[in-house]
Amino acid sequence: MRRILVTGAWGQIGSELVPLLQARFGPERVVASDVREASAPAGTVFERVDCREIADLERAVIRHEVGTIYHLAALLSAVAKRDPSAARDLNMGGLHHVLEVARAQRCAVFFPSSIGAFGPSTPPRGTPQETIQRPTTIYGITKVSGELLCDYYHTRFDLDTRGLRLPGLISYAAPPGGGTTDYAVEMLSHALQHGHYTCYLRPDTCLDMMYMPDALRAMVELMAADAATLVHRNAYNLAAMHFTPAELAEAIRAHLPEFRVDYRVDPDRQSIADSWPDWMDDRAAREEWGWRPEYQLADTVRDMLERLEARLRSA
Ligand code: SER
Repeated sequence: MRRILVTGAWGQIGSELVPLLQARFGPERVVASDVREASAPAGTVFERVDCREIADLERAVIRHEVGTIYHLAALLSAVAKRDPSAARDLNMGGLHHVLEVARAQRCAVFFPSSIGAFGPSTPPRGTPQETIQRPTTIYGITKVSGELLCDYYHTRFDLDTRGLRLPGLISYAAPPGGGTTDYAVEMLSHALQHGHYTCYLRPDTCLDMMYMPDALRAMVELMAADAATLVHRNAYNLAAMHFTPAELAEAIRAHLPEFRVDYRVDPDRQSIADSWPDWMDDRAAREEWGWRPEYQLADTVRDMLERLEARLRSA
């Protein structure tokens, strides 16, 4: 079996996907890569890769005999809005480089698309798998073009590209950094540490969300699925739960009754969130490769608070 390369390995998803892949396939079969030279955990194969440099990717893929690339290196929505050129260079240029190297070396590619691939003209409730995609954010533009590029490399070059439209991800291992859905992670950790959180989205802003263990399992299951069953390769709507900041605060109060939230809306992130769906219909993922989420809001909040508390105690 050829090796698995993870780009953006020190990010919110990568820092948990790498150990999961190592546990499943063996540490020597997984190559963690990132533009940041952070010290890799013991036993982790690391390669510094800047996805904006195709030579970096080429070198890593050839040197480590890579057969599958989980391409996670990207800017999230709020930082992308601040620097559209950087978003284009990394999110679009980086993916194009990954696909070119994958084409030459015959690698399978996983691409994380997002709820951000939709826009204000998309039906916002029960957003269908195939629908209007006219995002108004630079982040969303990079995600739609990524979906199309992955489809193109599949039909034109018979490359095995697969993708998911991920909801906002809730996790405790590494911070998200620069997204619009980050408030959920922040609210949980502020609730524990300070008993109070000032939220940058309005209390009634409904968005799709998912606990990281579900998202990781979805990625690995999609990449293992029988190619013959995949009609909508790039990319599948993926859903588990949807809630508003007010509903998350209420769920936290079931554990921490004194928790208080106030709201100071950031117009930049609010306008991004307002352009995204409230919740997506993920029937295609369920029917084509058997997707089933495990975590709903109450389980997620309980598990997150327990794990965050354990981290605080050991810090
Ligand atoms: N979580 C991402 C963001 O908020 C959306 O995919 O930017």
